[in-house]
Amino acid sequence: MSTFETIKYEKDGGIASITLNRPGVLNAYNMQMRDEMYQVLEAVQDDPEVAGVLLSGAGERAFCAGADLTEFGTAPSQVIARQVRWERDVWGLMASIPQPMVAALHGYVLGSGVEIAALCDLRVAAEDAVFGLPEVTLGMVPAAGGSQTLPRLVGRGVALEMLLTSRRLDAREALRVCLVHRVVPRERLMEEALGLLHRVLSHPPAAVRAIKEAVRRGADMPLAEALDLEWRLAMALASGRGIVKS
Ligand code: COA
Repeated sequence: MSTFETIKYEKDGGIASITLNRPGVLNAYNMQMRDEMYQVLEAVQDDPEVAGVLLSGAGERAFCAGADLTEFGTAPSQVIARQVRWERDVWGLMASIPQPMVAALHGYVLGSGVEIAALCDLRVAAEDAVFGLPEVTLGMVPAAGGSQTLPRLVGRGVALEMLLTSRRLDAREALRVCLVHRVVPRERLMEEALGLLHRVLSHPPAAVRAIKEAVRRGADMPLAEALDLEWRLAMALASGRGIVKS
């Protein structure tokens, strides 16, 4: 069990559970949460005991209601904000983490909440989940990758509608547009998300990591290059060499 203030971190049987833990403010993502997430994810990616990661939100009402609005405009300067972001690139870290990540989503999943979920590999939603990107209403661009990850997940049309209109989607609609993989009763959310992760982890870990890498890196490559990557990963896996570096 961890001693972080804004997240809970537990490691059990090869699974790292990270819980966004500011339920009083609907798990709004603040700078301290960013720093603690960065710390924990950096440790997780190099931890040979962690086979998979489960991400969820504490409390009854939300996975995460977005960036902490009370911190808007509090960075000493744009330059410092950019420097911190570069030094502690949580989103880049989440996008490149080798272990499979499953998000368990309930209640409000807004702004960075959607973006964090989009950076996970698999998403399970409770029936009460509500998804939305309110950034445009605040005159902002999503800054946790949402304008890039969302179109890759749900297609440009649905992503643009969500991003430009800020319309909220309920869990069923999120399932229909493939924003989430499953919708389950609220009381079974953690069990189902954990079950899904266990199912992934029941397969040979090197294959799981190689497939994840092939999909992640290949998505941004021309097809011929991506096919070559897949071939090299398959060969490396067959020869027991594991992850291909370049
Ligand atoms: N940042 C900081 N605090 C937040 C927050 C956020 N993004 N979202 C919710 N909270 C806080 C509220 O200020 C409130 O705190 P308080 O009890 O000290 O007043 C608490 O969480 C509960 O939220 P509340 O607004 O009272 O609940 P609600 O049921 O009336 O509304 C929401 C829920 C999610 C619709 C509403 O809180 C909301 O619109 N939040 C902001 C969403 C947003 O714009 N996120 C930023 C995206 S960039």
